[in-house]
Amino acid sequence: MTGNTSETAALDGAALPQQDIRRVRSNPDFWYPVAWSRELRRGKAIGVRYAGQPIVVVRPDAGAIFALDDVCPHRQIPLSKGEVCGDFVRCAYHGLKYSRRGQCFSPGMKLEKEPPRLRTWPCREKDGLIFVFMGDLEKSDSVPLPDFPRARDPHYRTRRFGKVVQCHYSFMHENLMDMNHQVLHSRLVGSMKPRFLGMERGKDFVEARYTFARTAGRQPLSEALIYGQRRKDGRDFAYRDVMTIRTQYPYQTLRIETEGIDEPVMELWIAYVPQDREEFINRVFGLLSIRRLKIPFLLDLAWPLLIAFTERVFTEDREIVELEQQAWREQDGDRNQEVFPVIMALRQLLIQNGMPSQKDVG
Ligand code: FES
Ligand SMILES: [Fe+2]
Repeated sequence: MTGNTSETAALDGAALPQQDIRRVRSNPDFWYPVAWSRELRRGKAIGVRYAGQPIVVVRPDAGAIFALDDVCPHRQIPLSKGEVCGDFVRCAYHGLKYSRRGQCFSPGMKLEKEPPRLRTWPCREKDGLIFVFMGDLEKSDSVPLPDFPRARDPHYRTRRFGKVVQCHYSFMHENLMDMNHQVLHSRLVGSMKPRFLGMERGKDFVEARYTFARTAGRQPLSEALIYGQRRKDGRDFAYRDVMTIRTQYPYQTLRIETEGIDEPVMELWIAYVPQDREEFINRVFGLLSIRRLKIPFLLDLAWPLLIAFTERVFTEDREIVELEQQAWREQDGDRNQEVFPVIMALRQLLIQNGMPSQKDVG
């Protein structure tokens, strides 16, 4: 992948705006995942959020899913507490019914005036994820849904995972992009020495590449399963693998390639969806695809082990970014002394593609 040189030059020349990155709001003009398909059975509704806006996603008895504001205009009760009746969602309190177009029907209830229509949101489903578009509605048709070819590829097995993390989404992007934090995971993966290979950047992406050497400790079994290779002496395998991490606003991907195997041995797609109005809580939606080994069912056998391993790594990352957010709160702002060029570029990207906070605007 090559960077656009004129764009890159423009970015380098631009002064970093004086904004606290943790106050930058996510740009709503994208498709954000809000739930897993498996969370929403037919004939049910689910309440989800994007940046403080409550949304109800409805899977009617027949037909496609739809999304509405999750507030009954009558007395502000979440419609997701109600029931799905045919192609309608019925409020749990007085029974007003709402269609997929947001129109209100009042079976058995005499209304003085028409209740206002509910706002509807573009809503789509793909590869086990439910997405909504909460930005400029005219853009929803032209903004592409993310694609996950590996999730459909029989040569890979894909794990769908996610948790709620109590921090601004920017801490998540920085944590994954900055592979100099191997110390944090040394109990799980041994001592890994990263080597930074370079970076590409453009108007809407930053990409960094690394390679690694194990300097102490043993290779965990889970890693052997990913590479399809038992590596007894880490020195023999130093700097053979290349990890590429890319923030393609607003999503992030990670891929690992290794010598001798044409396709990546691992690919990750991940989105951090702000939940609250201030965007200090995010819900993670991740698809982790691992290439099947020469003996394909070996990966299935070892799957629980891999899940446990990746879950432990994720927990260590979650705890550390939540501590960063806590420090931000206690110090009332970002006091980081960051010097790594990749992270500086990433911050600039998140600021330039995001929305300024009301505080910065005002
Ligand atoms: S609050 Fe929903 S019908 Fe009354
Ligand atoms: Fe990490």
